[in-house]
Amino acid sequence: MDQYDVVVIGAGAAGMMCAIEAGKRGRKVLVLDHAKAPGEKIRISGGGRCNFTNIHSAPENFISANPRFCISALRRYRPADFIALVDRHRIAWHEKTLGQLFCDDSARQIIDMLLAEMRAHGVQLRLQTTVDGVEKTDGGFRLSMGGPQVVAANLVIATGGKSIPKMGATGFGYDIARQFGLPVTETRPALAPLTFEVGLLERLKPLAGVAVDARVASGKRAFDEAMLFTHRGLSGPAVLQISSYWREGGEIEVDMAPGVDVFETLRRARAEHGRQAVATVLSQFVPRRLAQLIADTEGATGNVADAPDKLLRRIATAVNAWRVKPVGSEGYRTAEVTLGGVDTEALDSRTMAAKAVPGLYFIGEVVDVTGWLGGYNFQWAWASGWSAGQAV
Ligand code: FDA
Repeated sequence: MDQYDVVVIGAGAAGMMCAIEAGKRGRKVLVLDHAKAPGEKIRISGGGRCNFTNIHSAPENFISANPRFCISALRRYRPADFIALVDRHRIAWHEKTLGQLFCDDSARQIIDMLLAEMRAHGVQLRLQTTVDGVEKTDGGFRLSMGGPQVVAANLVIATGGKSIPKMGATGFGYDIARQFGLPVTETRPALAPLTFEVGLLERLKPLAGVAVDARVASGKRAFDEAMLFTHRGLSGPAVLQISSYWREGGEIEVDMAPGVDVFETLRRARAEHGRQAVATVLSQFVPRRLAQLIADTEGATGNVADAPDKLLRRIATAVNAWRVKPVGSEGYRTAEVTLGGVDTEALDSRTMAAKAVPGLYFIGEVVDVTGWLGGYNFQWAWASGWSAGQAV
C-alpha cells in the first residue's frame, strides 16, 4: 500500500498550490484528480487568459457566513506573492481593469507553472483517479480507489464547488465534510447571469446583445460595471457580481446612466433643443436601442418639447432606477463559483485544518468563502492552499 505524508484530492488552483508548498517542506505528496487534465478551470478562466489575482484583494471582497475567516490566509499569502511566482516563470501579464491581473498570452501558462513547481518539489500527480471512499485510521486516512489503496497522514480536500458540472465539478468535498461531521452551509450558484420571466423577455427582446455601463444594486450592495441584455435576462460583470447577493423573490435596481440626472438632462433638453425626439436625447447617454425601447414603453413618441414633467420623470426612473425582479439565475451550468460550502466554524483560519479531525484540511472553493468577480477567487485558492501547505 502506497504511503504519503500528504494526499491532496483535486488538482485545481488550491490543490496544486498546497501540494507545491508541502513539497517544498520535504513532505511526500500525492495529488489525485478524476479529470483527464489538471487545472481545467484555470484553463478556461478569464476568457482563456486567467484573471489570476486582484491586487486590491481584501476581506471585503469575499462572502462568507464568517467574513473574518479569510483574513489570516489573505494576509499570509498576498497577490504580490503570486505575482512574484508568475514573474519568476517569466509569464507576461497586465492589469485589465479594477486591479484584475491577466496573462498576456494564455491561462495555460499558469497551469504549466504550477506543474513545473510540483515537479521541482517532487509532488506526484495521478489523473483520472476516482476516490471511492475515505476512512480514518489511527495515523491518518485510508483512501480506496477501485482496487488500490493509499494511506495518508494528512488529507487535503481541494475538490472545488459545484459550478460547471460538465467539467467534472462534484459535491465530493461536501460529502467528505459531512462524513466527518463537519457542517456545510447552504450552497448556491454565484457569479451567474440572472433570468427573467417570458413576458418581460418578450418585451426586452430588441435589447439582446446591448451592453451598458450600469450600477446594479441589491439591497445595500451595488456594483458599477458593464451590464449585458441577453436572450434569457441579464449578464455582464455588474450582474454576475450582484447575483452573489440577490435572492429569489427579490428585486434588483439598475441605474443605466450612473452619474447622469436623467430628469434634469431631459428638462434642459426640452428648454434648449425641444425639437429633438425623446429617444434621441436619451441616446446621448444610453445605447440607441435601449433609448428607443424606453421612450416607446413610456409612450414618449414625440419631441421632448411636448413631454410634460410627469412623463420625463417616468423616463428618468426607467433609466436611473429601473427595478426588476429576476425569476432565477442560470444556475451551476454557467455559474463561475459556488456560494457557501464547508462551514468555516469547523476550520482553523490559519491552517484550514478541520478543528475536530486531526490531519483533515479543506481549501479553495469547497470552503464557505466566495470572492467577487475579478481574480479574487483564485487569490483565495492560492492563499488557502498556501496556508494549508505550511501546516500539512
Ligand atoms: P477547482 O474547481 O479549480 O479544482 C477542483 C479540482 O477537483 C478539479 O480539478 C476537479 O476535477 C477535481 N475534483 C472534483 N471532484 C473530484 C472528485 N470527486 N475526485 C477527484 N477529483 C475531483 N476565478 C478567478 O479568480 N479569476 C478568473 O478569471 C475566473 N474565471 C472563471 C471562469 C469560469 C468559466 C469559471 C467556471 C470559474 C472562474 N473562476 C475565476 C473561478 C475559479 O475558477 C475557481 O474559484 C477556482 O478554480 C477554485 O479553485 P479550487 O482549486 O478550489 O477548485
